[in-house]
Amino acid sequence: MARTYLVTGALGCIGAWVTKTLVDRGDEVWVADVDTDHRRLDAVIEPDNLARVTYEDVDITSGDGIRRAIDRADARHVIHLAGLQVPACKADPAAGSMVNVVGTVNVLQAAADSDCERVVYASSAAVYGSADGDAPDEKWPGTPETHYGVFKQANEGNARVIHADRGLDSVGIRPLTVYGVGRDQGLTSDPTRAMKAAVVGRPFAIGFSGTTDYQYVADTAAAFVACADRASPGAHVYNLHGASVEMADVVALIRELRPSAEIDFGGPTIPIPPALDGSSIRAAFQDLPSTSLADGIRQTIERFQALHDQGRLDTHDLD
Ligand SMILES: NC(=O)c1ccc[n+]([C@@H]2O[C@H](COP(=O)([O-])OP(=O)(O)OC[C@H]3O[C@@H](n4cnc5c(N)ncnc54)[C@H](O)[C@@H]3O)[C@@H](O)[C@H]2O)c1
Repeated sequence: MARTYLVTGALGCIGAWVTKTLVDRGDEVWVADVDTDHRRLDAVIEPDNLARVTYEDVDITSGDGIRRAIDRADARHVIHLAGLQVPACKADPAAGSMVNVVGTVNVLQAAADSDCERVVYASSAAVYGSADGDAPDEKWPGTPETHYGVFKQANEGNARVIHADRGLDSVGIRPLTVYGVGRDQGLTSDPTRAMKAAVVGRPFAIGFSGTTDYQYVADTAAAFVACADRASPGAHVYNLHGASVEMADVVALIRELRPSAEIDFGGPTIPIPPALDGSSIRAAFQDLPSTSLADGIRQTIERFQALHDQGRLDTHDLD
């Protein structure tokens, strides 16, 4: 039976793929975003399915705005992805906390006031900070090294308290380096931008180095949807794990597909562990997809190439 979902931040990268996952299987989706630029949705969803999406102009810093949207949609499931990323939170921590912390409290409170069954929200691996040692699991006490990570940690705490106080079920998901079509902003977007540059024949310099945990965006979206549909009662938090790979090997995979790609990389490692232990979510949801890095890069480059051939590839992020 088709269900109704409200997706905040659906005009962003992960949001576009969550929306695609839901509309492709026939569910009703309401999109709540402060932006009006649909380019990422256009890039990943076929027009017939995209025509079935309902748009709500919502700024989550307003509690009334998100409450109205949940009520109008009569949403039973909220997938909350709206947020500002690491560079924006660093540039303006007050604005970052308004959107990421106050905005998330607004979403959780509005959901608790409604008939919503569950909120699944984007936390982040940034809650850990650099975390010495091997792939941390969810019990590892994080010491975030960015405002963004501190804000995400606060969201997990607020979701736990709102569950205790008001009984709202929730799941926080901690992705790390999500890649794929639509990933064009944020600290770890450079590998995807390098794939796009390789397609259009432009040189690209990736601004960080070292090993990070690559998660294909379609798999990430599937994890959000599975949790929205099937999580057990409670206030859960799950890590995501994909493929933990050194930057030189990522560049080599891109060059296998585009041998003339001019990709450089350098700069610091990112203040996040190079791998997460993602075994808890896989134990809870055993059918989650797990696309290999080679396949994910191939699918991304093929989609970029198809959009480029149709004159529809947005390249503003390369300028
Ligand atoms: N992409 C990753 O690798 C990654 C990793 C860890 C966590 N996350 C988290 O996952 C979520 C989605 O990531 P993404 O890569 O799709 O981000 P994105 O930057 O592509 O999209 C974020 C969306 O949020 C919207 N937004 C911003 N402020 C808003 C506001 N006040 N009201 C309503 N909408 C607002 C933006 O318009 C945008 O469409 C974010 O919360 C992000 O912090 C992402």
